[in-house]
Amino acid sequence: MEKDRSTAQEFPRKMGHQLGGILQSGGRLSAQQVCDYMTSLEIDLETLMVMMLPFAAELSIAPISHFSVGAVAASINQDGSATLYLGANMEFQKSPLSSSLHAEQAAINHAWLHGESSIDFLATSAAPCGYCRQFLNELHRSEQLQILLPSDNEEQPWTTETLGSLLPNAFGPLHLGVKDRLLAPPSSPCHLQLHHSQSNDPVIQSALQAASLSYAPYVIGASSITNKTCSPAYAGVALQTEDGEIYCGRHAMNAAHNPSLSPLQSALSFMKMSHPSTSFQTITRCVLVETPTLVSQKQITESILSSIAPELGLEYYLTDSPSEGEK
Ligand code: THU
Ligand code: ZN
Repeated sequence: MEKDRSTAQEFPRKMGHQLGGILQSGGRLSAQQVCDYMTSLEIDLETLMVMMLPFAAELSIAPISHFSVGAVAASINQDGSATLYLGANMEFQKSPLSSSLHAEQAAINHAWLHGESSIDFLATSAAPCGYCRQFLNELHRSEQLQILLPSDNEEQPWTTETLGSLLPNAFGPLHLGVKDRLLAPPSSPCHLQLHHSQSNDPVIQSALQAASLSYAPYVIGASSITNKTCSPAYAGVALQTEDGEIYCGRHAMNAAHNPSLSPLQSALSFMKMSHPSTSFQTITRCVLVETPTLVSQKQITESILSSIAPELGLEYYLTDSPSEGEK
């Protein structure tokens, strides 16, 4: 799989200059910024997205493979305008390779944490790998998703694919009887509670809120067999940095399990995409809140945390078990 290794400098100087500034303030382009770029460069949305891929790849942290990958997700707003979200891969030394986050996941996570409820286009420098295809299959309106790939055609420097063509005979949520989808408003609201004495700390509260917004539609454990608590695996992380900022991340489950996103991956990727210049070394607290179920994010969170901040201890809280029907 040959990825696009071109650098931002190879793109039109005018655009490189403007975009360089934008990355300082975060890898999100508002509808107004997108409109301004399309007008000043006289290009369509798809071309802009493909041209931004090398800029997205600059946000990659790949100390293991040294292989930078960028992705750009677009959410089309009601008035037809588009908001763009950059994503890049992230690798963690001394952790299992399976804790690497792919650029495609990073772009979707970025849009999700900004409150978007669907992704209409996803530009990637090469066709997404099988793992990403399975991750994308969990998305709200994934049948309508257009995957944009760069092409050599000067008139139209992109081609489009559907997920259906890249992932035929897909396994997905419906096989497990689930109608919810990643990014769609959940079918039943979630009310999580912590023990009273922890309730005033803003970082713990942020992690609790992130947990309640996580995507956990799969029931964990059949209570008739295990007799254990049977509740969705909600999990959220909140990171606080030296300047007092709080960055959250959410668990995103996947029907096929393995492409699930852990809440610390989600938080770190969001932090990098939204504040590229903030170093992970400035993180002073990491709080994980999860529901008590047969799965847990504790081990993977500790593993990733020890990779990026070895001296930092994980603050860990279990919620009260959600009562029947409260999901
Ligand atoms: N990678 C992606 O980000 N997306 C893909 O679809 C292919 C692989 C990343 C994962 C890892 O950080 C590096 O590229 C080498 O596999
Ligand atoms: Zn992938």
